[in-house]
Amino acid sequence: MSANPRPARILIVVAMEAEARPVRAALGLHAEPASLHPAFPSAMVADGPLAVATNGTDPRFEIDAIASQPAVVTTLTAAESHRPDLVISAGTAGGFEGRGGAIGDVFVSTEPVRFHDRRVDIPGWDAYGEGSYPVADLGPERDDLLSAMGAKPGRMTTGNSLDAPPVDLATMDRFGADAKDMEAAAVAWVCEHLGVDFLAVKAITDLVDHPEATAEQFRRNLGLATERLAAAVGSLVGALGAA
Ligand code: ADE
Repeated sequence: MSANPRPARILIVVAMEAEARPVRAALGLHAEPASLHPAFPSAMVADGPLAVATNGTDPRFEIDAIASQPAVVTTLTAAESHRPDLVISAGTAGGFEGRGGAIGDVFVSTEPVRFHDRRVDIPGWDAYGEGSYPVADLGPERDDLLSAMGAKPGRMTTGNSLDAPPVDLATMDRFGADAKDMEAAAVAWVCEHLGVDFLAVKAITDLVDHPEATAEQFRRNLGLATERLAAAVGSLVGALGAA
């Protein structure tokens, strides 16, 4: 990573508990997550330089809080508490068979992360909607690091829906998205404001351009994808020297 080759403190931000549990286990973080804010379910487990924060359970809907709003609250409150040099948005994502993606692939963001569903057709606001937030440069060792993680370099886009209607799909195609998720760009937006390095690591649960329903694919492949995600995040954190 050219800006910060050995980040002293790493914060990993995860949306769902099913994604976070194997990540915490791979990193040896066994304590109960502690609340980050009295009004929000965001919680964090920290041990020395390493922390994993989750969005928690929405109190009204009684399910994991997902997508961009909880991602912002969790990232900001966790970063204020943990003071990381690097934030990793880790989780699952939809992939694209047409661009060589497969179930269980793990992608690391190697290009700016964008929103694919914030359309504002007014000069200036169009670029604001897209975002295009910077990602950390992993430097000359990038490809070796990714191979050791069992990961591929990828372009990631974020939106607030699990599905991919044609208008969003056209944007993802224009960006050449390898992975579409619901949090990465929101986490990256906070990191840009805080001046903290950002990376996304996403494991593919479903293929957007496959005839089977996304939700069915997601349910069936969640276990495999989160196992691969945890192994990749463990490997990355070990390689960066913070484990
Ligand atoms: N997470 C897992 N699969 C996804 C998809 N298809 N879209 C957005 N987020 C996802």
